[in-house]
Amino acid sequence: EKDGYDWFMLKEIAEQPHAIADTLLGRLSDHGAIVLDEVRISDQEVRDIDKVFVVSCGTSYHAGLIAKYAIEHWTRIPVEVELASEFRYRDPVLDRSTLVVVISQSGETMDTLMAMRHAKEQRARVLAICNTNGSTIPRESDAVLYTRAGPEVAVASTKGFLSQVVACYLVGLFLAQVRGIKYADEVAAIVDELRALPAAVEKVLSEMEPVRELARSLADSPTILFLGRHVGYPVALEGALKLKELAYIHAEGFAAGELKHGPIALIGEGTPVVVVAPSPRGRESVHGKVVSNIQEVRARGARTIVIAEEGDDDVLPYADHVIRVPRTPTLLAPVVTTIPMQVLACEIADTRGLDVDQPRNLAKSVTVE
Ligand code: M6R
Repeated sequence: EKDGYDWFMLKEIAEQPHAIADTLLGRLSDHGAIVLDEVRISDQEVRDIDKVFVVSCGTSYHAGLIAKYAIEHWTRIPVEVELASEFRYRDPVLDRSTLVVVISQSGETMDTLMAMRHAKEQRARVLAICNTNGSTIPRESDAVLYTRAGPEVAVASTKGFLSQVVACYLVGLFLAQVRGIKYADEVAAIVDELRALPAAVEKVLSEMEPVRELARSLADSPTILFLGRHVGYPVALEGALKLKELAYIHAEGFAAGELKHGPIALIGEGTPVVVVAPSPRGRESVHGKVVSNIQEVRARGARTIVIAEEGDDDVLPYADHVIRVPRTPTLLAPVVTTIPMQVLACEIADTRGLDVDQPRNLAKSVTVE
């Protein structure tokens, strides 16, 4: 039941610290090692992998996009991310040394299942990241890493998504551990940061009241745009998807650097633009560039809503609204920056009087191709 929440979605958003903690449970050793005994792929097979595909749909596809940044960085194995509905129709290059990671909350999504069967026919190794024990996708895959988010009832995926993202980090770190790690110090530090994620998520959740208030003021917007860069880009895509599916408002997510190649023409007086600002720290910081993007859209009339790390004051001159998230290593930031996106979409839909848990035209698991 809803435990006093108005919507299952609100309950499931609130359950995210637990979903993440449970997904990590027993999988991080005291010595900072990743323990994935259930993933039955031998060390030799892991060493032989020369390419990774991540294949999924919808929100799970966004988790895959985040996985690419993490897995490539930690392992130096090339990673391609593909929509399941496209994957098998374009004759992808697959063989025994390809690892195909399929991500599905329900484990029953037909597009993902068919893509997985195609990969298996081509002799690729298939690892499923799934939230539903005993569902079809993990039953047919070579190996499975279960997310432990618990049952997700709302059609819009929230705790399912964040636990998928965390599972993807575990896969990346596990592959890196078996193959030998280039950034050993960084990886050791990341394990500690993973442990800190549930508390960070709890903190974000406790500060969402201003976001709800802001959402109510956006409920009549004809369109809302979302911008991000690096791992913030999939978060922008996820923010736009949530808004479309729940609030039936036109929304698009863009890579912030692409603005000048076309989308900036969409911006007029008062157009709301939600921007995921990257951390000002970090090796490949694109922070300054995103600050310029915020400035550019503001100069063209946009109402800017900026999700930024605590202490990042560079965004202040150009932000109409700032939503703060705790400091987090760049690759892990989506775990905190996604939450305001979920809350915005949920609250906007609620303000518009819509059924948040059962949006029109959608089903929880899509069992047709
Ligand atoms: O069960 P799956 O993870 O395979 O589902 C994939 C998509 O259908 C799903 O994520 C969908 O996009 C959600 N409604 C998003 O909130």
